[in-house]
Amino acid sequence: MPSSRTCVGVVFGGASEEHAVSIRSAITVIGALRSGANLNRFEVNPLYIDQLGRWWPASVAEAVLKQGHPAKPEQLPNPHAPKGFTNLPDGSDKVQVWYPVLHGPNGEDGTVQGLFSLIGKPFVGSGVLGSALSMDKLAMKAAFAAAGLPQVPYAAANAEDLINERSRESVAKNLEAQLKYPCFVKPANLGSSVGISKAQNREELLSGLATAAKLDSRIVVEQGVTARELECAVLGKRELQASVVGEIRFNADWYDYDTKYTEGFSHTLIPAPLPKQVEEQIRKLSLQACDCVAAHGMARVDFFYDDELNELWLNEINTLPGFTSQSMYPMLWEASGVTLEQLVAQLVATARE
Ligand SMILES: Nc1ncnc2c1ncn2[C@@H]1O[C@H](COP(=O)(O)OP(=O)(O)O)[C@@H](O)[C@H]1O
Ligand SMILES: [Mg+2]
Repeated sequence: MPSSRTCVGVVFGGASEEHAVSIRSAITVIGALRSGANLNRFEVNPLYIDQLGRWWPASVAEAVLKQGHPAKPEQLPNPHAPKGFTNLPDGSDKVQVWYPVLHGPNGEDGTVQGLFSLIGKPFVGSGVLGSALSMDKLAMKAAFAAAGLPQVPYAAANAEDLINERSRESVAKNLEAQLKYPCFVKPANLGSSVGISKAQNREELLSGLATAAKLDSRIVVEQGVTARELECAVLGKRELQASVVGEIRFNADWYDYDTKYTEGFSHTLIPAPLPKQVEEQIRKLSLQACDCVAAHGMARVDFFYDDELNELWLNEINTLPGFTSQSMYPMLWEASGVTLEQLVAQLVATARE
């Protein structure tokens, strides 16, 4: 008898800095797809992308999920396979809905979404445009600016313009004419705070630009603000919904890589202690921000909030936010009355809308 369950192809791992986080997210997502009422709804076919970008079938993926860390060469059917994607692994034919649980470049930026579009099967999360626009901080900011959404002042720089001392000085002067110190220097296409630095003066600006230029040709420089960091989760397609608002607090000058990934360095407040109208404004802006970059399905929208000046700025959209048991996205929905099991089921349903 043919199964009435929907076959969900969960793709995780990936050739990005966020490989380990993706494995942890996949453990949470797949655990939820395989529990309670979802057992009768879904059949999960996990696929694993290793750090060389090679795709492996369920046999490898299940082992990675079980051990919770990347596959070792001896666990791979063909450890000498060439780098990168060559074809979909065995078992992919039966997949009815694809579910990318990938973070960062090649997962969150529209590339894998392009592959699913070519295959012609529905997939969880934003499409090519929403993913690409949300991944590139300069493109995202340009879209926010065009829609008149509030964000901190920023300017763009090109890595190619930093090749010699004279051009570097002129880039720095140009930035200083537009922004005040401190400012934040960011590669446009990364996440997890990788390659970001805070600059208090010309020397730090130049060294921040050099760091960012090693990682991306597109660089964003932003006015630094002293602000609380708030996040809101979005779900749905034809009709987008916004969750309660959460806050991240940490004992550091800013939310850098170590603070993000060292246990005990940060904690979350859900719901964030906020005046009602600020919370409502954040929920409204979250939906507007998603609309303006064509993000749908799933997104986490991040804000800066200066509670002394009562000023709110959009920081960024993440179209494939962290999905570990400790991650803000599932926790915000839990606090909004959507359990983890219901959340993954809704995400799959949304993909088919
Ligand atoms: N303009 C800014 N003012 C103050 N802090 C900032 C600013 N931009 C970034 N930060 C700090 O750096 C962190 C990472 O920046 P973000 O743009 O969110 O990059 P990522 O995509 O890597 O998360 C933020 O969470 C915040 O702590
Ligand atoms: Mg961020």
